[in-house]
Amino acid sequence: MTDTRVAVLVGSLRADSVNRKIAELLRDNAPAGVTLDLVEGLEQLPFYNQDIDTDAAPEVVTAVRERVATADRVLAVTPEYNGTMPAVLNNAIDWLSRPYGAGAIAGKPFGVVGATPTPYGGKWAHEDTVRSARIAGAVVIEDVTVSQPAVEVDPTTDPEARAKLLAALDTLVQGQPADAA
Ligand SMILES: Cc1cc2nc3c(=O)[nH]c(=O)nc-3n(C[C@H](O)[C@H](O)[C@H](O)COP(=O)(O)O)c2cc1C
Repeated sequence: MTDTRVAVLVGSLRADSVNRKIAELLRDNAPAGVTLDLVEGLEQLPFYNQDIDTDAAPEVVTAVRERVATADRVLAVTPEYNGTMPAVLNNAIDWLSRPYGAGAIAGKPFGVVGATPTPYGGKWAHEDTVRSARIAGAVVIEDVTVSQPAVEVDPTTDPEARAKLLAALDTLVQGQPADAA
């Protein structure tokens, strides 16, 4: 089997981010033949603006698009801000969605996981991320979404949470795109 590279979009910029730690956990425990590439620079992307989405687009735009376009699959790892995904992730998806129909995320099998310190684990953010990625042209893999409550539980050390997150990665890598069935 050829190697699979998963581009990972982390929705938190916080130095001590639980979601970044989850992304690192998945990267460090990925199955053989699977590489997780945590895409850097999302915070340097300007707010999406069609006026600057030209051949002269900022270098960081080209770099982020390239990292995702060359990946086999895409995984968002994100908390929830005010009932939806953080702006940094939303903005990244906007950049990855253009040119319309041929954006870097188009046709990529896609999943989302993440944790918040509530019983819902960021469910609304994850629902919105899936909807947005799908509209941007990604192929959402069913059963990959994990909204992990991090109330009195550290998802990076709790065996049950770790197992759920790693199973989601496995499904993303192995699973058939349900949308393409
Ligand atoms: C601006 C802001 C809005 C937030 N809104 C929500 C929310 O709607 N739902 C939720 O579960 N947590 C919310 N939180 C809490 C975050 O989920 C929590 O800070 C989480 O740990 C952030 O993830 P991180 O550790 O990866 O940075 C919010 C936090 C901030 C800073």
